[in-house]
Amino acid sequence: MKIPKASWLSLAAFALLGFQTQVSAQEHEGVTYNGQVGRIINDNCVVCHREGGIGPMQFENYEQVRPWAPLIQYKVASREMPPYAYDHGIGIQELQGDWRLKEEEIDAIIAWVNQGAPLGDPDIEVAPAELADPDEWNFFSQFGSPDLVIPSVSMDIPANGNDLWSNHYVPTGVTSERCIKAVQVKPRGDAKAVVHHANSSVETLNEEGEYERYGQLTEYAMGKWGEIVPDGVCRTIPAGSMVRWSIHMFPGGVGATAEGQMIEDNVVEIGLWLHPEEYAEEAKYKQDLRNYRISQQSDLVIPPNGYQMTQGFHSFDHPVRVDSFQPHGHLRMNAASLEIFYPETGRTEEISQISNWSATWHHSHIYEPDVAPLVPAGAVLVLKQWYDNTANNPNNPDPDMWVVGGSRTGDEMTHAWLAITHLDDEGYEQLAAERKEKEERSLAGSD
Ligand code: HEC
Repeated sequence: MKIPKASWLSLAAFALLGFQTQVSAQEHEGVTYNGQVGRIINDNCVVCHREGGIGPMQFENYEQVRPWAPLIQYKVASREMPPYAYDHGIGIQELQGDWRLKEEEIDAIIAWVNQGAPLGDPDIEVAPAELADPDEWNFFSQFGSPDLVIPSVSMDIPANGNDLWSNHYVPTGVTSERCIKAVQVKPRGDAKAVVHHANSSVETLNEEGEYERYGQLTEYAMGKWGEIVPDGVCRTIPAGSMVRWSIHMFPGGVGATAEGQMIEDNVVEIGLWLHPEEYAEEAKYKQDLRNYRISQQSDLVIPPNGYQMTQGFHSFDHPVRVDSFQPHGHLRMNAASLEIFYPETGRTEEISQISNWSATWHHSHIYEPDVAPLVPAGAVLVLKQWYDNTANNPNNPDPDMWVVGGSRTGDEMTHAWLAITHLDDEGYEQLAAERKEKEERSLAGSD
């Protein structure tokens, strides 16, 4: 992620000259760093833009922020920063771990830069960002340290070269069936720069004494934060199980590393926060995470300088709740959406859309449990993904190439990860009734 200084500066100059955004002047007169903007930046940017963070520059104080003001304005106005491309105004907006700024925060930053990015009253001190150690687990402040950390086997890989894969087994160390509260996958140290994705599934011994796939544990791809399982349901990790790692590394892809070097001791860790043992018996419904193929990946062909779109359908023979949505693609995929089609009414409901998708940031969009879609048996999940192989796609390394479905970074993929709670009629009715009641209460103003 080392980019020559000159190119940052030319970008900044470009933003300054080519970009002026108008906002309601009256509402945003006299916006200053010490007054408003410093707090917005401390709360939303410094977590990555600090010494040792993953952002390319630091925004810890006015002196550090000021030279970047025009570029900050550009990235904030275009909603490229903070990096969370989830469309406003389409589908469900209540998400857990949502990094998007509020409209008024964006307007304040735009106005501040248009007014010359002033410091403001030097006697006001901006509250510093409340931050954990950058190598700390993302859920540390919420749940403390993980109950269980499962590391992959260490690997040395060259800093430049082709895609590499590693598949191997590691025991989970779980001795009685447990339910997962939260999970994060974390490449340790330099591995951050080379791990493209890491899938982990769980296997258990079958009657013949052989390990057999039990289910997906989690999925990590660059930029992913983690997953939280909603209360009351169980994503199981069985006793005596093994983790089967499938790690895909792309050296040189985003590496902050020099030609000819080796990146040593690459380890990916799974942090698991578990519910107490008795929870496994109390939780009535199971949740699982699965990869839903949108169309046959082998059919995917994207012409040079052209576009492609895939669409796929899935329905269940029992009611479910969709807890999270994480589309997956590579360098040409630029948008994805999830809809539900109700055959009985012919109505289609928009659930989520991500129009400026980028492979640098793989987010599992976790719906707030109160609004997570309840899907009756037979309703159809419609998954769509779009690909742009033209020069207009800023992530496209070569618009003159034919791109086909496959697992190398330069190939494309077409699937989405969905966390699904499997309900029965009773569970579905109960959740639907609870929501209705809540809605009525809040309409009556007593909530
Ligand atoms: C989760 C980490 C993270 C957060 C939060 C974050 N950034 Fe970034 N930012 C990055 C990374 C990584 C890059 C470089 C790669 C990229 O552009 O995606 C970057 C790049 C930038 C750039 C330079 C972009 C360019 O193209 O030259 C600016 C400006 C920026 N961020 C501003 C912000 C602002 C302002 C905020 C808060 C409102 C913010 N960022 C929040 C990680 C983050």
